[in-house]
Amino acid sequence: MAEELFDHVEGAAGDGLARLLNAIANASIQIRIEMPHLMGFSDGSNKYGEQILKLDEWTNKFLCDTLVETGLVRRIYSEELNAPVEGIPDAPYVVCIDPLDGSSNVKTNNTCGTIVGVYEKEVGKGSEQVAALYKLYGPVTTVTYSVGKGVHEFIKQRKGEVKFVLSKENMRLPEKAGVYGVGGKREEWPPKLREFVDSLEGRGMKLRYSGTLVADFNQVLHYGGLFAYPKAKLRLAYEAKPLAFLAKEAGGKASNGFKDILEVEDDVDARTPLFLGNGKLIEEIEKLK
Ligand code: AHG
Ligand code: MN
Ligand code: MN
Repeated sequence: MAEELFDHVEGAAGDGLARLLNAIANASIQIRIEMPHLMGFSDGSNKYGEQILKLDEWTNKFLCDTLVETGLVRRIYSEELNAPVEGIPDAPYVVCIDPLDGSSNVKTNNTCGTIVGVYEKEVGKGSEQVAALYKLYGPVTTVTYSVGKGVHEFIKQRKGEVKFVLSKENMRLPEKAGVYGVGGKREEWPPKLREFVDSLEGRGMKLRYSGTLVADFNQVLHYGGLFAYPKAKLRLAYEAKPLAFLAKEAGGKASNGFKDILEVEDDVDARTPLFLGNGKLIEEIEKLK
């Protein structure tokens, strides 16, 4: 199997997605360079009424420009944009981005990331994505991707090299659930769900919660378990569907509490409750009434 990101994606899905995902991965280098210089809020707010950080604004623009420059993207929908960016007419892909996930962790210097979902025709059900990935700006930068042939993690090499090298291939959620993280306030959770969450430590699981969706999902992917945000805060197209695609490819599940996230049909800017992780836990949550 290929060791470098471009070759790995090309082997699984061809040159187009390989160039696209590689460009998104390489954008991390500039994003990390800018991070220390872009602290604080911008003057604007987004369509969800949230104040935008300077870093949200810059990362959104930089990623959109990077995507358009590939010549492979017809349209970009972003959590931070009121209207989509039109790319190259007739280009093969439509992309949904959460340019900077975990914005509230920027000022405390905790991990944040980027989430991307890729479609061929238009944004449709999550199951219609042809690729999904997330990046983590942690102690090292990682890219975790799927083109529907397993989930694979790549690590950015040291010394400024523009090179992402395979670190974990065909990742599977460990069968034994190790960690759980549930966001929002307990008073916002349905009572049965509160009881369910209270039962998790008795099953040997430990609380791990960072406040950055990708970082929390990444822990679940590595240790097995559950991530949940029961209130409909998280964004269906920009956050839930790409991570649902990855969860499924790693042998797990994603639900809005009633239905598989990958089968939900709703507006591109819709928000959703989100439950992600080991299949057995997600099935139990869907049965809570
Ligand atoms: P974003 O930074 O893209 O707006 O996303 C923040 C999300 C997600 O990363 C996290 O799980 C959740 O919001 C945390 O929200 P609260 O701190 O409001 O609970
Ligand atoms: Mn986010
Ligand atoms: Mn964001």
